[in-house]
Amino acid sequence: MKITVINGTEKHGVTYKLKEIFLDRLKNEAEITEFYLPRDCPNFCAGCTVCFRGDEHKCKDAEYTQKIEKAIFEADLLVFTSPAYVFHATGAMKSMLDHFGYRWMPHRPAKEMFGKRAVIITQCLGAGGRSASKDIKDSLSWWGISSIKSLSFKLMSEIRWDKIPEEKRSRITSKLVNAAERIKRIDFTRPARTGLGTKSKFYAVRMLQTGLGKANPEYTDYKYWKNNGWIDKERPWK
Ligand SMILES: Cc1cc2nc3c(=O)[nH]c(=O)nc-3n(C[C@H](O)[C@H](O)[C@H](O)COP(=O)(O)O)c2cc1C
Repeated sequence: MKITVINGTEKHGVTYKLKEIFLDRLKNEAEITEFYLPRDCPNFCAGCTVCFRGDEHKCKDAEYTQKIEKAIFEADLLVFTSPAYVFHATGAMKSMLDHFGYRWMPHRPAKEMFGKRAVIITQCLGAGGRSASKDIKDSLSWWGISSIKSLSFKLMSEIRWDKIPEEKRSRITSKLVNAAERIKRIDFTRPARTGLGTKSKFYAVRMLQTGLGKANPEYTDYKYWKNNGWIDKERPWK
């Protein structure tokens, strides 16, 4: 199994610890590639829209984004982690996700994303863990992923793992270990089922693209959809 991890912080703090507990159960049978943000995708999207217009390789940050995209495509399981920063995912995570706006379903979603599985690990002190998770989930679901497991933790006490009360630490550890054990039982030779939510998004966008294509058959996103056969009978899921 191949796992690609995108860490929303470079800090080896609580978020890092939670991710390590989760991966610990999987690492004997997995090839793991990790990215740490902002280090591995350090620049903001400048809004040039070159990716939306059809050539993501011309992005000023392509050397970073294409490496991440390749690792995402190759992975059986994606893991995204982030602490809550002012009720949301870290700015570094949001900045990385902005670079993949062109992979949202209304543009040029990648076939590889349908059938993939993802886990999101977030944590906060009091509130904001769930909204941080949703920030990430919004992108993953619009990329075409249906199987997304969110593990969100509220520490309430401390921002240092070793200072968190033992009972709380063991509850958090059990939840992460159980989630990893469930992942171990998955048959990764088979894609995850594409759910109704993903299919609804796909069909709504297909209708949109059909209309856009009638107005301008040379429109970049329409041509992409048409070439994939999605305007016709082909579907990106099995
Ligand atoms: C800039 C910043 C903003 C934060 N905002 C929140 C917040 O909105 N809600 C919350 O419960 N904790 C907040 N925290 C605490 C973190 O979510 C987290 O618990 C703490 O940073 C430890 O995580 P780490 O060790 O992985 O960095 C914030 C921390 C930072 C540095």
